[in-house]
Amino acid sequence: MSFLVESVNALEILDSRGRPTVLAFVRVNGREASASVPSGASTGAAEAIELRDGDPQRYAGLGCQKAVAHVKHDIAHALVGRSFTTQAELDELLIELDGTANKSRLGANAILAVSIAFARACALAEGMALFNHFAKIAGTTPSLPQLTVNLFSGGKHAGGQVSIQDVLLVPSAATKLEAALEQVVAVVRSAQLLLKRKYNERPLKADEGGLAPPFGSIEAMFDDAIHCIEQAGLSAGQDMSLAVDVAASHFYTDGRYQLDDRGLSSAEMVSRVKSWVDNWPIVSIEDGLAESDWENWPSLRDALSPRAMVLGDDLLCTNPDRIRRAIDHRSCDALLLKVNQIGTITEAAQAFKLARDAGWRVTVSARSGETEDDWLADLATGWASDQIKVGSVQQSERLAKYNRLLRIAQSL
Ligand code: PGA
Ligand code: ZN
Repeated sequence: MSFLVESVNALEILDSRGRPTVLAFVRVNGREASASVPSGASTGAAEAIELRDGDPQRYAGLGCQKAVAHVKHDIAHALVGRSFTTQAELDELLIELDGTANKSRLGANAILAVSIAFARACALAEGMALFNHFAKIAGTTPSLPQLTVNLFSGGKHAGGQVSIQDVLLVPSAATKLEAALEQVVAVVRSAQLLLKRKYNERPLKADEGGLAPPFGSIEAMFDDAIHCIEQAGLSAGQDMSLAVDVAASHFYTDGRYQLDDRGLSSAEMVSRVKSWVDNWPIVSIEDGLAESDWENWPSLRDALSPRAMVLGDDLLCTNPDRIRRAIDHRSCDALLLKVNQIGTITEAAQAFKLARDAGWRVTVSARSGETEDDWLADLATGWASDQIKVGSVQQSERLAKYNRLLRIAQSL
């Protein structure tokens, strides 16, 4: 089938932090679709560049009018009237049109919004659900991912009251999505009660809706999580396990990990992370070391794998070159896939395939700044990712994805 692009347009909208982002519209074979893109706060240094206006008079410099103008002019001019037979043909044209290694000219926000809106318009033109269309692109068989749901937040998403970024719930025994969500919500409810009782706090929420009381320590955060699981009538380690996003790049300075009130060497950091996996039912450790600490990642993997997944987020930035390096060096055994770190569906599919071919697991992830768009649920299911990481069950930009998964589950 051939897909004729008839129109391309864009609008500046706001994300879940009230910051501007890009919504693109693409019309293909008489069917128009739109898509909006997310934005990170604890970003990796090797991510594709989100183009921001830099005008301090508007949204503190974070406006996206330039990116929107690039969609309306440069990109529309290059695409309208052209036919494509694959997503890759469109994405390659966008990459060429941008002409930089990190998409800094047109902006990864402009490029990705168009890439996804095109995919959605093609799916409509084919009369196909978006997840099936994504599966066609990657040559995968759709299947629902396991949930990993943000319970507690720290780090850059919560004002740094503890150094690490997320403690997530992993409903490991539930075989049905509906049951998994119900269990997660029960644990979040018991956490809200705990906050009032133990910290005398209203349930203040961090960027992804995680609860963020003033934990006494990282270890206290894990103990509280286990307590909440048990209070919900579930068995920790069997019904419900934990995953941790350490986001260690963000407290790594001058070669030391600034945890608690002292700086740890890389070897000490590996031992500390290992002690967490030894003492709590933690099945996944994301960014247990910093993105630049390449030489110590293999020892982290040796210490944790296969008990816990060794997941690379900032380390890999969904970038095929960095993933190849990590495979060669045995740095980790799982990819955190965030499409906007690389900027097109086609490059994200390459990253996905590299990881899969190396026998790695894949977690498809949202960003801390999100919109109500739900394409991520279709992507995670279409590509049969092992897990999805969307944030908490307390904010609509997160629930849009969970609710879309429920609808997909019904149709699978
Ligand atoms: P970010 O955080 O979207 O702010 O980068 C998510 C993560 O680190 O996994
Ligand atoms: Zn992360």
